[in-house]
Amino acid sequence: MPSETLPDGLVILDFGGQYCHLIARRVREMSVYSEILPSDASVEEVRALGGVMNVKGIILSGSPSSVNAESPLRLDERILDLGVPVLGLCYGHQLLADLNGGDVRKGEVREYGPREATIDAPEGVLEGMRPRERVWMSHGDTVYSLPTCFKVLAHTDSAPVAAFRHREKPLYGLQWHPEVVHTEHGGEMLRNFAFKVCKCRPNWKPVDAVEQAVEGIRRQIGDGNAVIALSGGIDSSVAGVLTSKALGDRVAAVHVDHGFMRMDESRQVEEALRGLGVNVMVIEAKERFLRKLKGVRDPERKRRIIGEEFIRVFEDEARRFGAEYLVQGTIYPDRIESGITRHADTIKTHHNVGGLPLQMEFKGVVEPLKDLYKDEVRALGKRLGLPEELVSRQPFPGPGLAVRIMGEVTQEKLDALRRADAIVCEEVERSELAGKPWQYFAVLTDTLSTGVKGDERAYGWTMAVRIVESVDAMTANFTRVPWDILERISGRITNAIPGVTRVVYDISNKPPATIEWE
Ligand code: XMP
Repeated sequence: MPSETLPDGLVILDFGGQYCHLIARRVREMSVYSEILPSDASVEEVRALGGVMNVKGIILSGSPSSVNAESPLRLDERILDLGVPVLGLCYGHQLLADLNGGDVRKGEVREYGPREATIDAPEGVLEGMRPRERVWMSHGDTVYSLPTCFKVLAHTDSAPVAAFRHREKPLYGLQWHPEVVHTEHGGEMLRNFAFKVCKCRPNWKPVDAVEQAVEGIRRQIGDGNAVIALSGGIDSSVAGVLTSKALGDRVAAVHVDHGFMRMDESRQVEEALRGLGVNVMVIEAKERFLRKLKGVRDPERKRRIIGEEFIRVFEDEARRFGAEYLVQGTIYPDRIESGITRHADTIKTHHNVGGLPLQMEFKGVVEPLKDLYKDEVRALGKRLGLPEELVSRQPFPGPGLAVRIMGEVTQEKLDALRRADAIVCEEVERSELAGKPWQYFAVLTDTLSTGVKGDERAYGWTMAVRIVESVDAMTANFTRVPWDILERISGRITNAIPGVTRVVYDISNKPPATIEWE
């Protein structure tokens, strides 16, 4: 019998898919509780969750692994006999098919990105779906057939079993990812599973995120003191304000101005956080960084030098302050991209300046935002009273403009790029695009080209403009910018910055390109 005092909830088994936390979050957004367990959790561990929720169903996440790998990730099969509905997504879909005698093999093509799925039977999880649905795929293996006790609910051009259900048991599989926004009716599919198949009641209320974070920080740090690197971005700003709420003056928010910030950025951050009572320390270190980068062209060396130098400056301040704890503004996608979940593939180790190992010994590292997505951090920032321009600020790499200058970084190039960047920002923000793109910025390429300035031949820099849309930075599409906006940007940049003769627009998506050029 379900308890009346406990919320109804779903358990998500994490096979290492990039979107596992997103599934948990989507479920919670429907006022249904959710918990993530590692894929090798035992049936006893799942049952134990009965202490915090009525376990109404199980979702198996995606994974970079294959059921045909030498030692494929499995699950405690007793979980499938708990008598609650099970939904397999992507790898989970393939795993359920494989465990039940289906034919799962490497597909002829790797389906990646948006696809049209033909819905053969709009029932169960797919109730109410149209004959053709836009779905988001990311898989190498394909389910080719299933025993007759299963019914195929959908297919695509290259996946004959893109969705299935068991004819008698509440067992479902979807090859696509309903949890990402690119699956147009993904939310409906998850709601169908939670409410129609699992019969969940929407009776879970999120705990107050600010209170929870402040309490968590106090619990971890006790009466110790802490230091946080304030990069200027929303993540470290929110983490800084939360920590300051928890510890008052026992936290120092150190902003190292390495000289690679955007126009006016350091001053804005300093003012905003001081205004909220945060103990901010600004360290001017421009010359020191530029000196270290003299003659360096290789992007990875550049990053390493900036990272190391940053740490040196930061460590000095932390020591001076007597900090025992380090607070970081790491958010959930940073951890996935660095391969921190148990089975996730490492995509790129982020050289986040706040995230490099310090030589200093701290009693502990505190990451109050580690389970949140960007939009959740923004919502928190708003509630905490951070100004809108800071809250809606686009993500900015820790090494700053230095990784948007191809080749050697010089003061002259930095000045040019900073002005170009400010023009791109201004034009985008006052256009009909305002609020839409995920990131928009200028890049100073290493290519010189010929132009005419005044009546004279000029040989100058080529500035690239990059404007992308994204949900979580893991994938991104270039924005289809109206020509007149691009023309204004180009005209203003070439007029205002003497060294620039040419402006180009970057039309690459991620993958295969990345958002940043370096
Ligand atoms: P990429 O270029 O990998 O970027 O597609 C994904 C997101 O991460 C940001 N980025 C960084 N952030 N330090 C950071 O703190 C870095 O070194 C770094 N490199 C990229 C990038 O702006 C985008 O939002």
